[in-house]
Amino acid sequence: MKRIVAFVLLMAALCVQMSANEVNLIGNVPARKAMSLNGDWNYIIDVQEEGYYDYRMNVTQWGFFQNAKPQRPEDLVEYDFDKSPTMKIPGDWNTQDDRLFFYEGTVWFYKKFKVDSSELREGIRKLLYFGAVNYEAIVYVNGRREGRHVGGFTPFCFDVTDRLKAGENVVIVKVDNKRNVSNIPTVIFDWWNYGGITRDVLLLEVPTVYIENYKIELAKADAKAKQRDILVSVQLNQQKAGETITLSIPELKLKQTLTTDAEGKAATTLKVSSKTLSLWSPQNPKLYKVDLTINNETLSDDIGFRTIETRGKQILLNGQPIFLKGISMHEEKAHGGGRANCEADARELLGWVKELGCNFIRLAHYPHNEYTVRLAERMGLLVWSEIPVYWTIDWKNAATYDNARRQLTDMIHRDQNRANVIIWSIANETPHSNERDEFLGNLAQHARTLDTSRLISMAMEVTGASNYKNRLRDNMNKWVDVVSFNQYIGWYRDVNDAPKMEWEIPYEKPVIVSEFGGGAKAGYHGPKNQRWTEEFQENLYIENTAMLDKIDGLSGTTPWILKDFRSPRRVLPEIQEYYNRKGLFSDNGEKKKAFYILQKWYEGK
Ligand code: GCU
Repeated sequence: MKRIVAFVLLMAALCVQMSANEVNLIGNVPARKAMSLNGDWNYIIDVQEEGYYDYRMNVTQWGFFQNAKPQRPEDLVEYDFDKSPTMKIPGDWNTQDDRLFFYEGTVWFYKKFKVDSSELREGIRKLLYFGAVNYEAIVYVNGRREGRHVGGFTPFCFDVTDRLKAGENVVIVKVDNKRNVSNIPTVIFDWWNYGGITRDVLLLEVPTVYIENYKIELAKADAKAKQRDILVSVQLNQQKAGETITLSIPELKLKQTLTTDAEGKAATTLKVSSKTLSLWSPQNPKLYKVDLTINNETLSDDIGFRTIETRGKQILLNGQPIFLKGISMHEEKAHGGGRANCEADARELLGWVKELGCNFIRLAHYPHNEYTVRLAERMGLLVWSEIPVYWTIDWKNAATYDNARRQLTDMIHRDQNRANVIIWSIANETPHSNERDEFLGNLAQHARTLDTSRLISMAMEVTGASNYKNRLRDNMNKWVDVVSFNQYIGWYRDVNDAPKMEWEIPYEKPVIVSEFGGGAKAGYHGPKNQRWTEEFQENLYIENTAMLDKIDGLSGTTPWILKDFRSPRRVLPEIQEYYNRKGLFSDNGEKKKAFYILQKWYEGK
């Protein structure tokens, strides 16, 4: 009996020790003092999770996270990270090891790094930050479990200060990308399930009391207003009153001192003359350097000032109607697939977006990496950002809802200061039900509690009401600012009937066609009724753009999709070969004929 009690107490202790050291998401990571842990990481493919469970499927104390080494010649240790292969981090495992192309399961990652004793001084905290890990990460530092994170496209970080030691330290991450019906996304989705540590890993250095996040936005105002209000709110990492924060925007000659309240918050409104403020727009992506200083530590960011709102069926940017000339895009490198994860990747893909003549981009179907959002902001590209509440989610599962809500919260907290982000999307093509309406309605309301300066939308579906009448009927219309829907006239239905189509969208709100398109294999030519030829796709774009011109209240579109992308659902030999071929560019960066149709249509917009 005593042995059982001891075991239970040990497990309880482990659980307490295993309690996550996760800290709230820290904003503006690019401006923080950081040591990069990017580079070569050793990895072990662990199909049966031998490194986590014993042979009775109990979580073992002697797992791979202990990084054990034989101490005596007779010792038995059946793994060795230092002798295991390496791969580049950030990076998905599917495109770095042929054995992992289709793999869905656990891979362990291992990285040694040095910390100088001077970095472990009083008043300094060390945060271990991950830009994203798909799908589940369990993180250990020097053998201690720091915590667990789920969700493959949003950042997270742990305070590891009291675990680090001067000299060599070890971080080990158990990554598991197995799909699960209660995950977000669920078990089926039309993109590749790239697994691994797919974005940057950084060891951040912050003072004990630091600016955790902030929000700086331009208040809406009448177009003729002579003065504009810049709303500022700042949040410390601690509920500490009396901390002094100096805020300055040198180019606008604005400077103000704020003092935090008992919750560690501070807020103010800066007044600026309309004449001197240059508003951010696609034509003028003006950013201002903003400095936030606390205890002689300055955090700088580049902030754009603009307003986005709707009026009837119009979307207004800085009070003026705008047509969103967009394109949808997955987060995949321009050539050969694999997760895009650096500035160079973003530059190549967004260069294509600009060449197409776009002012808008739908980052489908999940939050993309921060490089892409920030570069798009500098290039004057407006952004639709989305969480992967995609298709047939486990609507009745409270844990699933909490997961979606957490991903939505982190997406907003990471990018809430990016002027180019104008739409938060909470879903894509979800089947109608009361549970789904409640789930998404709650998400929409939650988004509004976090951010009232942007629009809420989601990609809905139209139903063919009769032969040529298309009707949008979705209870979610009351929760969104912009009604958006996907339609595939000419591809999944009515191949030759686009010109006859009529559209019934009974909502006094702007409309975005968030997807239309069709597939083509680059270089495959033939008559325009021959499926998969470039001519078929070209004709589809000719007919669809003409049809879109007839949709009342159309405020924009993001055709599907910039480039061919990997999908396990697309298996047609010689044509798809595990690629979705609806791209205007091939998976090797070749333009297809349809590219020029959309480019020309946008020129006329
Ligand atoms: C759907 C879905 C996309 C998918 C596309 C297609 O609308 O939103 O994720 O890739 O259609 O069928 O190609």
